[in-house]
Amino acid sequence: MASHRGVIWLRKLGNKDYIIISLALLLLIIILTTFDSSSPPIQSTTPNPPLGKLSLLRNAKSLGAVCLDGSPPGYHFRKGFGSGSRNWLLHIEGGGWCNSIKSCSLRQLTALGSSNFMEHEVPFSGILSEDALQNPDFFNWNKVKIRYCDGASLSGNAESEFHNGTKLFFRGRVIWKAIIDEIMSKGLGTSKQALLSGCSAGGLATLIHCDDFREILPKNVDVKCLADASFFLDESDISGNYTMRSFYRDVVHLQCFFPQEILKNTKTPIFLVNPAYDFWQIQNILSPDASDLYQSWQHCKRNIKNCNPNQLDILHGFRSSLLKAVNEFLNNKDGGVFINSCFIHCQTFMASTWHSPNSPRVNNKTIAEAVGDWYFNRKAVKEIDCPYPCNPTCHNMDFS
Ligand SMILES: *[C@@H]1O[C@H](CO)[C@@H](O)[C@H](O)[C@H]1NC(C)=O
Ligand SMILES: *[C@@H]1O[C@H](CO)[C@@H](O)[C@H](O)[C@H]1NC(C)=O
Ligand SMILES: *[C@@H]1O[C@H](CO)[C@@H](O)[C@H](O)[C@H]1NC(C)=O
Repeated sequence: MASHRGVIWLRKLGNKDYIIISLALLLLIIILTTFDSSSPPIQSTTPNPPLGKLSLLRNAKSLGAVCLDGSPPGYHFRKGFGSGSRNWLLHIEGGGWCNSIKSCSLRQLTALGSSNFMEHEVPFSGILSEDALQNPDFFNWNKVKIRYCDGASLSGNAESEFHNGTKLFFRGRVIWKAIIDEIMSKGLGTSKQALLSGCSAGGLATLIHCDDFREILPKNVDVKCLADASFFLDESDISGNYTMRSFYRDVVHLQCFFPQEILKNTKTPIFLVNPAYDFWQIQNILSPDASDLYQSWQHCKRNIKNCNPNQLDILHGFRSSLLKAVNEFLNNKDGGVFINSCFIHCQTFMASTWHSPNSPRVNNKTIAEAVGDWYFNRKAVKEIDCPYPCNPTCHNMDFS
C-alpha cells in the first residue's frame, strides 16, 4: 500500500527534490489519516468579523493552475487602509493532505479540492482582523486569505492530470505562482512590508515558499514568514513504529523531509508559532489509531486532562523532541518562536487565541504581541513555555 502511494507521488510531483521528498514523507507519516482533523472548532470571540469575498483566479484553466478537480483556485481579499495601505499580509489556509488517489478523489468533493464547494465569503479574524484591539500591528494591512485546494501544501507540479475514471490535477506550485502573480498586480508588487503566513498544511506551504516569496518581491520590501502549527516532527509513534521512515529510507535521502530541514535551507526570517502539545500531531503522529491497539490513548488524545501520568510523560517527551528540533533555529538571530504548552493546533487566525484579554500568553505576551515584536524588530522573541499544565492561559481543546 505504502509503495503504491509512493510511486504515485513520485510520478506526480515536480522536480524540486527536497519539496517532493518532504511532502512525500509527511504524507506517509500521516498515512493512517485520510483527512486532517485540523480545523479546530474555535469561534472568533468577535461577534461579527468583516467578511472577505472569494475571487476565483482569472485564466486558471489556460495557466493550468487548477484545484484537484480542475476548477479554478481562489482567494479572499480585503483592502488595507491608512498607514497599512502599502503593506500586505497573506495567509494560506490549512486542511491536511490527501495521500492516495482515493483520498484525493474524495477531496474533490470538498472545498479543499474544488472551488465549487468554497464559501463565497469567509470571516477575517485574528491575524486577518481589521480591528486594532484584536490585531494591534497588522489591522490596517491589505490581507489575502489563500484557499487551499491542491491537497499537497501548494507544492505538486505534475504536468498531466492523473486519469483513472475521474481526473485529478496536482498543480499546487502552479496555483501558488498564478495567485501570487495576480496579487502582485493588485498592489503586492509595490508593497513596503509583507508577511506570508499560514497554518498547519498552509504553514508548511509557507515554509516551502518563503524564500520564493522573498525572491518575487523587490529587494527593498521587508519580507518575513510566519508558520503556525506546522512544525511536524519526525517521531516514532507510541508503538515505536518507524514503518514509513524505513520504507522511505530506501527511496530517498531522509535528511531533508521535515520542516526542521526546510528551516535550515531558508534565508528569509521565519517565526514559528507552535503548541508543544499540538493535538493534531498527538492524534496523528504520536498515537495514530492503528498504533493504539488497546485503545488506551483514546481518552487522552481527546482531552489532555484525561491523560494518565505515563501518557503525560510521553507527551512531555514529544515536547522535548520539539524543543530539540527547534534548538538550532533558536540561534538564528532573525528567527522568532512562540511555543506554548497548550493542547491546540492553529492559533493565529482566531481572535480568541491570537490576541484578546484571555488569549494564551507566555511571559505575559500574546501571540500577536510576540509576532509584532519580531516583525518590527522591537525585540528578539524566543518564547518557550514551561511544561503542561503550568500555563493557565491555554485554550485546551476538548474532543470528548
Ligand atoms: C484505477 O481504477 C481502478 C478501478 O476503479 C482501480 O482498481 C485501480 O486501483 C485504480 N488505479 C490507481 C492507480 O488508483
Ligand atoms: C508497524 O508497521 C508494520 C509495517 O512494517 C505494520 O504492519 C504494523 O501494523 C505496524 N504496527 C502498528 C502497531 O502500527
Ligand atoms: C500583563 O500584561 C498586561 C497588558 O497586556 C498588563 O496590564 C499586566 O499588568 C501584565 N501583567 C504582569 C504580571 O506583568
